[in-house]
Amino acid sequence: MRIAVMVSGGGTNLQAIIDGIANGIITNTEIGLVYSNNPNAYAIERAKKAGIPYVVKSPKEFANREDFNKALLQILTDANPDLIVLAGCLVVIPECVVRAFPNRIINIHPALIPAFCGTGYYGLKVHEKVLERGARVSGATVHFVDEGTDTGPIILQKPVMVRDDDTPETLQRRIMEQAEWKIMPMAIDLIANGKVRVDGHKVIVDGYDDLTV
Ligand code: GRF
Repeated sequence: MRIAVMVSGGGTNLQAIIDGIANGIITNTEIGLVYSNNPNAYAIERAKKAGIPYVVKSPKEFANREDFNKALLQILTDANPDLIVLAGCLVVIPECVVRAFPNRIINIHPALIPAFCGTGYYGLKVHEKVLERGARVSGATVHFVDEGTDTGPIILQKPVMVRDDDTPETLQRRIMEQAEWKIMPMAIDLIANGKVRVDGHKVIVDGYDDLTV
């Protein structure tokens, strides 16, 4: 299975995918392209080190959003991926891309959807809201991307206990280490081996009950 990974920042989820392929946690998968909107994303350095083709194209290079959306669709179409993986991607995925790749785009969200998600919930903001609310458990979710924001069918989730001494930064880091970097590779491997299908808004994962998430 060929994947295109879309990044905007540090790329630790991209690194988990690169490492997962190298150590056999992710099978039957190759990264055909890394795309970033951000020329300064350290994720691009990670792609370079791993010898993965990459493209940087920012919306700021275009006269309007429509032109950017068309260019992004062309970049992804040319890469011809079986699956698009949003790994810390802060670009709003345009409808034309979602329609071109139905149930073939997955995203990692750093909370347990439907909690602490939707418009405005990204990065540290998510964890600030979790601590503000006094939630005892948070975690991460891998879901298919549909036209909404964080509303697509849920594939995998992993809980992480919130600690009394947590700051948004310590909670974010622990959720990345204990949840994101585990369930994103697992979801890709399951999809790469034909074990995931969407039935309406529900996701059926073969052998789900025996999985150690
Ligand atoms: C992660 O917290 C991820 O959940 C969110 O973006 C953050 C950046 O991750 N989507 P990365 O280090 O760039 O993969």
